[in-house]
Amino acid sequence: MAALATPVLTRTPQLRPLNILSDLPAVADLIETCFAATLDSDGQRYVQQMRKAGSDNVFLRWATTAVETVSMPLSGYVWEEEGQIIGNVSLIPYRGGGRRIYLIANVAVRPDYRRRGIGRTLTVAAIQHARQRRAEEIWLHVRDDNPGAIALYLGLGFRERARRTSWQAAPDRGACLDGLGMSVGPRLPRDWNEQQVWLQRAYPDSLTWYQSMPWISLRPGLLPSFYRMFLDFETRHWTVHADSRLLAALTWQAGAGNTDRLWLAAPPQGSERAVTALLLYARRQLAWRQKLLLDYPGGEYAAAIEAAGFRAQRTLLWMELDETSAPESRR
Ligand SMILES: CC(C)(COP(=O)(O)OP(=O)(O)OC[C@H]1O[C@@H](n2cnc3c(N)ncnc32)[C@H](O)[C@@H]1OP(=O)(O)O)[C@@H](O)C(=O)NCCC(=O)NCCS
Repeated sequence: MAALATPVLTRTPQLRPLNILSDLPAVADLIETCFAATLDSDGQRYVQQMRKAGSDNVFLRWATTAVETVSMPLSGYVWEEEGQIIGNVSLIPYRGGGRRIYLIANVAVRPDYRRRGIGRTLTVAAIQHARQRRAEEIWLHVRDDNPGAIALYLGLGFRERARRTSWQAAPDRGACLDGLGMSVGPRLPRDWNEQQVWLQRAYPDSLTWYQSMPWISLRPGLLPSFYRMFLDFETRHWTVHADSRLLAALTWQAGAGNTDRLWLAAPPQGSERAVTALLLYARRQLAWRQKLLLDYPGGEYAAAIEAAGFRAQRTLLWMELDETSAPESRR
């Protein structure tokens, strides 16, 4: 990484830019230790990939040229004492609606070195790095059950902009909608206007730099079907109506490796039973798939989603740096 001297880098001898050619195995060990309590199978895969990448010379050569251009954690800072990596922060660049965005990730400090200001200094280094590269927005994600880290980020001027829950369920041939009094049907072309408005509410443009919305696949019509046929993964749409009024819509989008996404469109405080019915229906119809994932605003329809057999994997706060309340990171 081309290291421009930032104020915090200049005055902190233990802090240095990540050396992608040599640091990845030690950083992978640190992340595994620090996130042990919350590391799910995706997290374990991430750590394994980092270890593998650290010994792959072709990848490492490419990574040194791609640092600020691809949305991968190829740059960052480490805290080193007596040749050991004690702390880490990663930076991932994104583009969203023409805006240059940095995501701060993997903030981790070895347990026996905590509460000495290392996490704060690493995060300040990441902020200064992003500012020097003319970031228009600086974001991070933190679990809602991590009050220590949330306090750290609030103290540096980050503010909560969204809360998202990741839900997961296995398909189930026996999923039963009896007793809900809801019947699930196909999506009608006239449903699209409302579905689109509700999708934009649940998956707002301000967040889609992280995971883009497959708008072409979601839209009805001939052109989108051609697009899906040749370029995209298969999709299916289902709806629940009451007296020809749309209550909720659900789209299934097949994904790589049998991990599929669901896109739920429902109004604020709408029919809980309609949402449960759609999700149960999807579990039943998709019995040959392996895993269904749903990302949705935290707290919304939570009981309805749980009633359909989905489990919350995590709820993340999406925090953005509010430059008007971030004096410390300017020093
Ligand atoms: C979160 C973490 C990086 C903090 O590192 P750290 O070096 O201990 O943090 P600092 O000493 O710089 O703390 C700065 C401020 O953050 C807050 N803070 C940090 N840890 C805290 C805790 N456990 N409880 C309450 N507040 C805490 C405090 O306001 C603290 O200031 P203070 O010590 O003057 O009161 C570290 O606990 C860690 O590695 N945790 C596991 C991995 C993780 O959850 N990372 C965050 C991912 S989003």
